[in-house]
Amino acid sequence: MFILGVETSCDETSAAVVEDGRRVLSNIVSSQIASHAPYGGVVPEIASRQHLLNLAPVVRRALDDAGVDPGDIGAVAVTRGPGLIGALLAGVSFAKAFAFARGLPLVGVDHIEGHIRACFLDGPPVPHPALALVVSGGHTSLFLSEAEGEYRLLGKTRDDAAGEAYDKLAKRLGLGYPGGPILDRLAQRGNAERHLFSLPHFSDGARLDFSFSGLKTQALRRIEAEAVTPVERGEDPFQREDVRDLAAGFQSAVVRALARAVERALETTPASSILLTGGVAANSALRKRFAALGEERGLPVFTPTIALSTDNAAMIAAAGWVALRRGDRDGPGLTADTGLRLGESGPRRSRRHR
Ligand code: KG4
Ligand code: ZN
Repeated sequence: MFILGVETSCDETSAAVVEDGRRVLSNIVSSQIASHAPYGGVVPEIASRQHLLNLAPVVRRALDDAGVDPGDIGAVAVTRGPGLIGALLAGVSFAKAFAFARGLPLVGVDHIEGHIRACFLDGPPVPHPALALVVSGGHTSLFLSEAEGEYRLLGKTRDDAAGEAYDKLAKRLGLGYPGGPILDRLAQRGNAERHLFSLPHFSDGARLDFSFSGLKTQALRRIEAEAVTPVERGEDPFQREDVRDLAAGFQSAVVRALARAVERALETTPASSILLTGGVAANSALRKRFAALGEERGLPVFTPTIALSTDNAAMIAAAGWVALRRGDRDGPGLTADTGLRLGESGPRRSRRHR
């Protein structure tokens, strides 16, 4: 079955056509980064307006690129949360109109389940149980998926998401938005030994949770202690050894924190595969560390391509396929839900015809 996916939870307007939850026929992502960059982060009002403008052309291109007729689409899947309310509503309204005009089944999906399903696209089958780390600008969560479409939350961040910490540090260093990709490239040319950051310990004994605001604060303290000035407009950040070394130290700590949680989870949780996904899964050092971890443990590691790691609609179509098979169906009452919490509410009941 061909599923049309629609994603508008944050600052990318995306539409995709995916066959049977696995084969990507098209995946169009219209990034709004240029509109938000002058403000150093996503401006919700601008995001909603841009989605409204972009949705129809992006969906048309997704259908054209896939070479499928709207009449060949079997169902519509749309992100219903979590995310920015105005941004989500733009996608949900569009998907409802498209589905009901054509008499197609509609299913609203969880953005985080989408990130996990990105690991199943265009690749070999993923063995379960799977340990899945979703690491993005808004989330850092570790799940156990014992069977297809079932998720249990094992740990999550108590403050900033990993991508958020990257973005805040980059902003302070004058590197623009989003900060992850540029800090990643700077880190590759820096000395990670110069700044050694310590990882958090939780007094309540939680071993699988994350915290990144402490790492960010350690980095900001180093900036003050060493009088690191922000990179000026027009200045080449790669010429700045102080910035490169700071990026390298920070990146090394983020990678250690993420890998530590997965290693700890593997001590007590039987897993047949490791999934690494979300925007920060595009990180070069993180991908290397997880590839090595998989080899050490003899477990296959599934990481989406970079285009499928960051926000995209192919992952939403893939999650929609799983949701439909689980029995989920939405009616005209479908609305956005910014408070969705994947894997936190016990066994899942299917949602039908609301
Ligand atoms: O999944 P995503 O596209 O959007 C959310 O759902 O948040 O993730 C975006 C985040 C941003 O914080 C961005 O800085 C980060 O992913 N990111 C990276 C890299 N590429 C994107 N972080 C570290 N290294 C990268 N190479
Ligand atoms: Zn995301």
